[in-house]
Amino acid sequence: MPFTLAHLSDPHLAPLPKPRLSELIGKRVTGYINWQRRRRFIHDADVLKKIVTDLKAQAADHIVVTGDLTNIALPAEFAHGRQWLQGLGTPTDVTVIPGNHDAYVRAATAEPERCWGDFMRGDDGAGKFPFVGRRGPLALIGLSTAVPTPVFMATGRLGEPQLARLGETLAALAHENVFRVVLIHHPPVSEAKRHKRLVDAAGFLHVIGQHGAELVLHGHDHLHMLNWLAGPKGTRVPAVGVPSASAAWATSKNAAAYNFYTIGGSPGAWSCEMISRGISSAGAVEQQRRLKLLG
Ligand SMILES: [Fe+2]
Repeated sequence: MPFTLAHLSDPHLAPLPKPRLSELIGKRVTGYINWQRRRRFIHDADVLKKIVTDLKAQAADHIVVTGDLTNIALPAEFAHGRQWLQGLGTPTDVTVIPGNHDAYVRAATAEPERCWGDFMRGDDGAGKFPFVGRRGPLALIGLSTAVPTPVFMATGRLGEPQLARLGETLAALAHENVFRVVLIHHPPVSEAKRHKRLVDAAGFLHVIGQHGAELVLHGHDHLHMLNWLAGPKGTRVPAVGVPSASAAWATSKNAAAYNFYTIGGSPGAWSCEMISRGISSAGAVEQQRRLKLLG
């Protein structure tokens, strides 16, 4: 039986709760102004509801969320995030990694773990990145690029220790005959401006080049993206990005969507097909494209 996996990202849950004055510290001030001026017109709770309803109707074997549940990392946003995750499914059925907005200010860096920790766990139960969760033929490898950054910066960083552990993890899993899915918020390859980049993307690409993976899933740029990364021995690894799951029609380059993967075959002969379903101008969620990535 093929295994099905749904991927959504960057829900940026709306509405933004009214912050207390004491919570408007540091970068949250510009973030709050930005939300009021621009982002509240983009991230639409009704659009997200439609995306989630459609996604749940597809009854995927597992769901992954690649970060940015919040906007300016307010305590109330993390509570909302937990509620929303519980609506998606149980930690057995849903895997989450954090995005840069979930570490918007230094004061919030422990909040994803505190509020969503059970959704960010591997089989060993340790709250550490990378984590590895096995589901069917899949090994989900969760990374964190979420680090607090100065105002107007949205960069991400894996860091040397995490990159080293990622290399060891991918190498070990290569012997286990599993379909390795790497979850990372920031895209390893992007045309976005420098202030949004993954600062150690070269290190990530080096690890993939050495040890490979079957699929890399990311968010962050809020766009449909597909880049082929170089794996070992001439292999190629698809890195696929998905738009924000709450982006209203015509407010962004790509309106809200999610990707649905059907994975079959066996080690050395995997098959992987992707279907994108997204919001149409009429406000319905419909299939937008179908792509054979492997096999
Ligand atoms: Fe985002």
